Amino acid sequence: SRFDTLITNGLIITAADRYTADIGLKDGRIVALGQDLGEAEEVIDARGLWVMPGGVDAHCHLDQPLGDGAVMADDFESGTRSAACGGTTTVIPFAAQQKGHSLRAAVGDYHRRSEGKAFVDYAFHMIVTDPTETVLKEELPALIEEGYSSFKIYLTYDDLKLNDREVLSVLAMARREGGMVMVHAENADCIAYLTELLEEQGRTAPYYHGVAHSSIAEREATHRAISLAELIDVPLLIVHVSGPEAIEQIRWAQGRGLRVYGETCPQYLMLTAEDLDREGFEGAKCVCSPPPRDPAAQEAVWEALESGVFQVFSSDHAPFRYEDPQGKKLHGESASFAHIPNGIPGLETRLPILFSEGVVKERIDATRFVSLTATQPAKIYGLYPRKGTIAIGSDADLTLWDPAARTTVRNADLHHAVDYTPYEGLELTGKPVLTLCRGRVVSRDGRPSAEPGYGQFLKCDKPQPARPRGAAKGF
Ligand code: URP
Ligand code: ZN
Ligand code: ZN
Ligand code: ZN
Repeated sequence: SRFDTLITNGLIITAADRYTADIGLKDGRIVALGQDLGEAEEVIDARGLWVMPGGVDAHCHLDQPLGDGAVMADDFESGTRSAACGGTTTVIPFAAQQKGHSLRAAVGDYHRRSEGKAFVDYAFHMIVTDPTETVLKEELPALIEEGYSSFKIYLTYDDLKLNDREVLSVLAMARREGGMVMVHAENADCIAYLTELLEEQGRTAPYYHGVAHSSIAEREATHRAISLAELIDVPLLIVHVSGPEAIEQIRWAQGRGLRVYGETCPQYLMLTAEDLDREGFEGAKCVCSPPPRDPAAQEAVWEALESGVFQVFSSDHAPFRYEDPQGKKLHGESASFAHIPNGIPGLETRLPILFSEGVVKERIDATRFVSLTATQPAKIYGLYPRKGTIAIGSDADLTLWDPAARTTVRNADLHHAVDYTPYEGLELTGKPVLTLCRGRVVSRDGRPSAEPGYGQFLKCDKPQPARPRGAAKGF
């Protein structure tokens, strides 16, 4: 037959359009869009369903070794299985350099960690912690060329952070080579100062994590990162933005024509500082950086999603088990907040939460949902148009949604290896009923239906959005 699969009568939604049509798939790609397309081996009736591009989760952490003895719960198998069940068909986790080690060694290490394990396709961002001459002049230019065209830098965490001089050298390299820079923007000294003060006062409960990681420290670092990028004239993406202070800085930069992009995550829509104050040590489940803020911050984040300040909506899945001496309880329940592993799981709940709270509640429309969760992340990280849209020639990565189905989030129903979700009991409307990656069904009714190893590694192009505004600089 002409097609391997025909998906009929679905409401197709892209970042630009919504229309009803049939989709013809062949050899893992979309090859036809229209009516009465012809014969297929298999027909999937999508009447009453919405057909959207498979989600692209451009920020998640899988099997990342950590210095302090904490161990991530999800490897590439459980993490991508969970992603598939939540409607996501591409993930971009991190290959993290360790200080004193080569970046290329890190990339090799993460290929070994992921080989034969993934349920969905994946690319890598790098994390640059040690920008030596060799890294800047040899390793990064070569790696960017080879398909690792984006990397994250940190302004905080002792074992990760760069000083401003190092940030400038990395930004100048990105400008020369066409890489996309992501920044974790929090002021390290402000956090260290406040942490010391709070610990002296005996205020060490998880709640105080949110006090130490002040939104002012986030705002300052966001502004600084933007200024350094303006000095070099290179685009920049601020990851995991938590509230209005940092949003104002990004909006200000965008208003001046700078190519500054923003990302936010479900935790900043759904959680607040009160969740860090849950009974006993339970607040540790919601410890992440930057921390969730307050209801006014949630409103500001919604407004920025709606108005276009943010281009990317990612999970920042950083999986640590709660009841685990290698997880949230690394140092026991009486440990200071400063020693709780940072991060929240969210690969599987990312799309259902934004769909229900955003689209169903009419805070954002369906095309914006697709833009934020698939199209823009694919464009910004050099995977478009292979990923992130429904178009002829694109990979057949599709997620079919029942927009009216009611569900309740239960960790028991999720497919990650974390022993909790911060969203336990949350009632949602809309769910993915069938998800295809390169034409293969990878999840059905929230359950996995592919095997580990189906997912392929993706090389990223140098992204168009990473291009500088001006002509070549003299430095
Ligand atoms: O708390 C968080 N976000 N942990 C994950 C690592 C990071 O900085 O994104
Ligand atoms: Zn970060
Ligand atoms: Zn992260
Ligand atoms: Zn410790």
